[in-house]
Amino acid sequence: MTLYARLVPAAVRLRLRPHLQRALEVSGLIGVLHRRQERRLPQAPAPPFDDGLPMPPAELLVLVGASSDGRWFSEGGREHAAMFSSLAGKHGVDVGKAADVWDLGCGCGRIARWLAPEAIAGGGAFTGSDINRRLVDWTSAHLPGRYLLNGLKTPTSLAPKSKDLVYAYSVLTHLREKAVRAWLEEVHRVLRPGGLALLTFHDECYAGAWGPPGVVGRLEREPFIVLNDAMEGSNYLSSWTTAVHLEALAAPLFEVLEIVPGRRDNPTQAIAVLRARAE
Ligand SMILES: C[S@@+](CC[C@H](N)C(=O)[O-])C[C@H]1O[C@@H](n2cnc3c(N)ncnc32)[C@H](O)[C@@H]1O
Repeated sequence: MTLYARLVPAAVRLRLRPHLQRALEVSGLIGVLHRRQERRLPQAPAPPFDDGLPMPPAELLVLVGASSDGRWFSEGGREHAAMFSSLAGKHGVDVGKAADVWDLGCGCGRIARWLAPEAIAGGGAFTGSDINRRLVDWTSAHLPGRYLLNGLKTPTSLAPKSKDLVYAYSVLTHLREKAVRAWLEEVHRVLRPGGLALLTFHDECYAGAWGPPGVVGRLEREPFIVLNDAMEGSNYLSSWTTAVHLEALAAPLFEVLEIVPGRRDNPTQAIAVLRARAE
């Protein structure tokens, strides 16, 4: 199952009528329902899974994937780590050779559990950051690397021009367009000139395969769509944009090396592969 399908927010699961959903969003009460839904999910039984690495507790697993399925967390994370590592290598950054890497929106280390040891063993450094303190605390206590809390708004405390590689899986997908622009600027600020950013987003291919009905048609008319427009940064809100529009947002600061379309098989979000331009 896809990350988006797992993250189908409380309002959809609860089958709220649109006007009631909007009223709950405007009043802020939707947050209470969404958090209650998240607290219930770990109670669904999931078989234990051991990959030899520390496994986050169920209540943290659901915060990143809306499921307490340890196998999905481990195996999906390993696949996405291999995918980022291979894309980075293709464009000149070898994670295993003294690279300084930042995992933006690291959650509880689904990808960091694989890439942090690789970067550190290769003589490099690894930093993860997230807006959720519980996720940062767990990751910091259990995985190698340095983990920081950052705000929903930029900037972070990271030094300018300090990283060779930044990746973010399913993070821009929970931000409005204004925040996406701001985070592109922040990623550019923190990357050394020529450094690489691998940022996933919900493109039209992913929307066609896994999105809710109507999104593909809307993307033909609107380049950036926000669904469930409340609780920015949480899994409640999802944003969708065309590859062309994401490219246009990134182009002033980055050379767009490639846009890997979202996949139906082995579901994976689209990836913008960007090289930081020198100022
Ligand atoms: C769907 S989860 C994905 C987590 C992780 N990247 C993964 O693939 O397992 C989205 C994560 O992004 C974090 N997040 C959302 N907005 C953020 C922001 N502006 N800065 C840092 N983290 C953010 C959330 O707290 C959450 O942990």
